[in-house]
Amino acid sequence: MKSCDIALYGLGVMGSSLAKNMIGHGFRVAAYSKSEEERRRFALPGSESGYVVCADVQELLASLKRPRIVFMMVTAGAAVDSVIGELLPYLERDDVLIDGGNSHFRDTARRCEHLEDRGIRFLGVGVSGGEKGALLGPSLMVGGSRDGWMCCRRILETIAAHCGEETCCAYIAAQGAGHYVKMVHNGIEYAILELIAETYHLMRYGLKFTHKETTDTFREWQSSRLDSYLMDISVRVLEKMDDDGTPLVEKILDVAEQKGTGRWTLQDAVERGVYIPTIFEAVFARCVSSGKAVRVEGKRSLSATTAPFIMENSREKLRDALLLGMILSYAQGMALIAKASEENGWDIDPVKLVGVWRAGCIIWSELLTEVRTALSEEKANLILTDTFSGVAALEPALRETVTGAQRAAIAIPALTSALNYYDSFRMEQMPVNFVQALRDCFGAHTYRRVDKEGYFHTEWE
Ligand code: 6PG
Repeated sequence: MKSCDIALYGLGVMGSSLAKNMIGHGFRVAAYSKSEEERRRFALPGSESGYVVCADVQELLASLKRPRIVFMMVTAGAAVDSVIGELLPYLERDDVLIDGGNSHFRDTARRCEHLEDRGIRFLGVGVSGGEKGALLGPSLMVGGSRDGWMCCRRILETIAAHCGEETCCAYIAAQGAGHYVKMVHNGIEYAILELIAETYHLMRYGLKFTHKETTDTFREWQSSRLDSYLMDISVRVLEKMDDDGTPLVEKILDVAEQKGTGRWTLQDAVERGVYIPTIFEAVFARCVSSGKAVRVEGKRSLSATTAPFIMENSREKLRDALLLGMILSYAQGMALIAKASEENGWDIDPVKLVGVWRAGCIIWSELLTEVRTALSEEKANLILTDTFSGVAALEPALRETVTGAQRAAIAIPALTSALNYYDSFRMEQMPVNFVQALRDCFGAHTYRRVDKEGYFHTEWE
């Protein structure tokens, strides 16, 4: 078959699901994996005419129409460079190479440049939605060669999730911009996951709700402004019982793992000087969780003055606290993207980007419709927009939740950081005048004054 529309390199869970999605939409797919086992497993009864499984990369490329489009779905990192190296001798000018893994955006920018020199059009595509999304419609954030995008646009827009008539696939900007926004998407994902988990913890172990009361409350919240993919799967998790009939979640060890995109988001934010405390705390909550033995020891050896965690109308207050935390997580992510866009000259349209997140991706929520409207106001931060003027009404609930948890000595770093983020916007006067004085005192670093222009130095002794 020399008439395939696209090649899929990598037939693991994500790659094979994407390939099946493409075949299901009538595209002819040439599929290949280095693993013979994966090639064998990739069999779709009844749709043989829609695909061919190739034995090697020469056959893979020979099966394609020109210009040839190859979609790589392999583990991010060295494997991507190795597959590019394997394909390169057989690629021709104008061929399109797509990397759909969670690659670091700087690697993607390097690959774009390197391949462009050889006439190959390279795209780094952020793919969100997990296995199910890949199969039924992922959210696709495309970056890299605009020409390359024009070439594969029809396929990607067709296989993506749809929100009404709109496809959840868009060209974001050049270089590694697609992978960049996917990285920040994951940072927001980390933050919301942690916020949900902390809220669950407060309800179950602070307020001492039964598991059933906790589940019922989460179920009720599904049809509130919290309506989101992550709330839906939270209910699914809470409803799952272990073989002995007790909640499975309570049997899961409290040590969380991570693959790296959250940490990359932090590193990037630090370099750009963008404050993303809730994402920061969510990443570090996972790091802290890994020291289980230390926590067990600390519980025995460190004392704390505590008061019971009690709140009137606790369901409503926790709901509002979580909602504000979610809004502030989006605000932090969007602020970081805006800064990166400016620094890289990407000119990312945030309204278009959020449109891509309105279905198919992990951070999908009903709130994103409001986020989209707010972004069109073009204010310095989402929470300063008219659309989100209502956040002030949520603030007392978040504050009461955080102070109550602090009195009870329950660490809820993500919710606490969200409150700090909110308060940081209200700190007309910050304590850093004192920092400036100290810097000047020990190092003659100079300072600016409120009453005169220019830089000043004082002999403090
Ligand atoms: C997605 C997810 C997906 C994955 C992340 C997070 O959008 O489909 O973000 O890419 O879940 O890599 O993984 P970790 O939590 O293991 O870092």
